[in-house]
Amino acid sequence: MGNFIVKSIVSDYEVNFINNTKQTLDEELNDADVVIIDNIVKDLYPDILNIKLKNNLTIGIDARETTKSYQGLIPIIEKLIASGFRKNHRLIGIGGGITQDITAFISSIIYRGVSWFFFPTTLLAQGDSCIGSKTSINFGEYKNQIGGFYPPNKVFIDLNFLNSLSEADLKSGLGEMCHYFIVAGEEDFNRFKNEYTLVLKDKELLSGLITRSLEIKKSYVEIDEFDKNERQVFNYGHSFGHAIETLTDYAIPHGIAVSYGMDIANFISVKLNYLTEDIRYEIRQLLEQIWDGYNIKNISVEKFKNALSKDKKNVGKELRLILCKGYGKVFKAGMQMNKEFIGWLEEYLISSLNKVVDKL
Ligand SMILES: NC(=O)c1ccc[n+]([C@@H]2O[C@H](COP(=O)([O-])OP(=O)(O)OC[C@H]3O[C@@H](n4cnc5c(N)ncnc54)[C@H](O)[C@@H]3O)[C@@H](O)[C@H]2O)c1
Ligand SMILES: [Zn+2]
Repeated sequence: MGNFIVKSIVSDYEVNFINNTKQTLDEELNDADVVIIDNIVKDLYPDILNIKLKNNLTIGIDARETTKSYQGLIPIIEKLIASGFRKNHRLIGIGGGITQDITAFISSIIYRGVSWFFFPTTLLAQGDSCIGSKTSINFGEYKNQIGGFYPPNKVFIDLNFLNSLSEADLKSGLGEMCHYFIVAGEEDFNRFKNEYTLVLKDKELLSGLITRSLEIKKSYVEIDEFDKNERQVFNYGHSFGHAIETLTDYAIPHGIAVSYGMDIANFISVKLNYLTEDIRYEIRQLLEQIWDGYNIKNISVEKFKNALSKDKKNVGKELRLILCKGYGKVFKAGMQMNKEFIGWLEEYLISSLNKVVDKL
């Protein structure tokens, strides 16, 4: 696909694949732009900030879910205002999805909105979150409770950042990207499944999956940017996934929680006779490779139920889940949190978590 433009109701934006972040920063930054950067990225890549514009304020952040919160934003906003940051200045986010959400959310509220650029440095951010314009922060103990839609003005993807990612963060990115390939259909899912074990070692293949993932997401974002209809299928795995993140205190990375979430959605879909066991099993073969090493056996049904009831997509007491009828056939379904449903959750947590397959 190469570089591309995402059409947005707010403002269209470019996504550029780049090779040299330092050079791009040199070319793109104005004097008074402020860089918000993940401290880990700053330490791993000290050179990228050796840019010619020495006046740029740099705010380092710890990329934790607790930083991505109301309280976590306060010191950042204080620094911005104290530094003389103005409405015509821009924020430059460099980091993963957490840095993105923080930069995007602040950009959307400070002085009623400033421009911002994003340099995604994780697989999850490069293959998913960097487009789509969602901004979310956590509130209290629950995830992504507050936010809006505020796209960056430009995105710059430099695959070199992926070289320093941990295997867990690579898998988290793959878990997140996987849901696009299931939603897109059987051909895409098979491609993802076949390439999954190879991409961790083959950058070319990985870059192909990133591009395809963004292409699938872009096609939905451009028709339903504000997530009112078609785009909602991408909540597949997310209601359960967010509950798992909350209940494990974010010890389970987002994309890995989503991979569990997709399997739970598929389990419920089988119970409701929407999905065959065969397809659930085929998908599960892949998901097990992604979540390998992360366990959710200790989560109690009671707590799981409570966390699910806080999902922001619920309407009244009804859960709004994304279920699956097969590849390319995921759909929104209302669901009561009744005895039967709670029984299925219990069955899943108690007896469905043992490994069902050997390695692919
Ligand atoms: N706004 C959206 O549309 C959207 C979409 C999906 C997910 N999200 C959010 O994104 C977050 C998850 O994103 P993430 O997985 O990128 O998390 P993250 O930003 O926490 O990054 C994961 C870890 O990788 C480290 N890291 C970042 N870049 C690195 C690099 N190049 N090398 C080594 N380590 C690096 C970070 O410091 C962190 O420890 C969640 O909060 C999720 O809710 C937002
Ligand atoms: Zn996600």
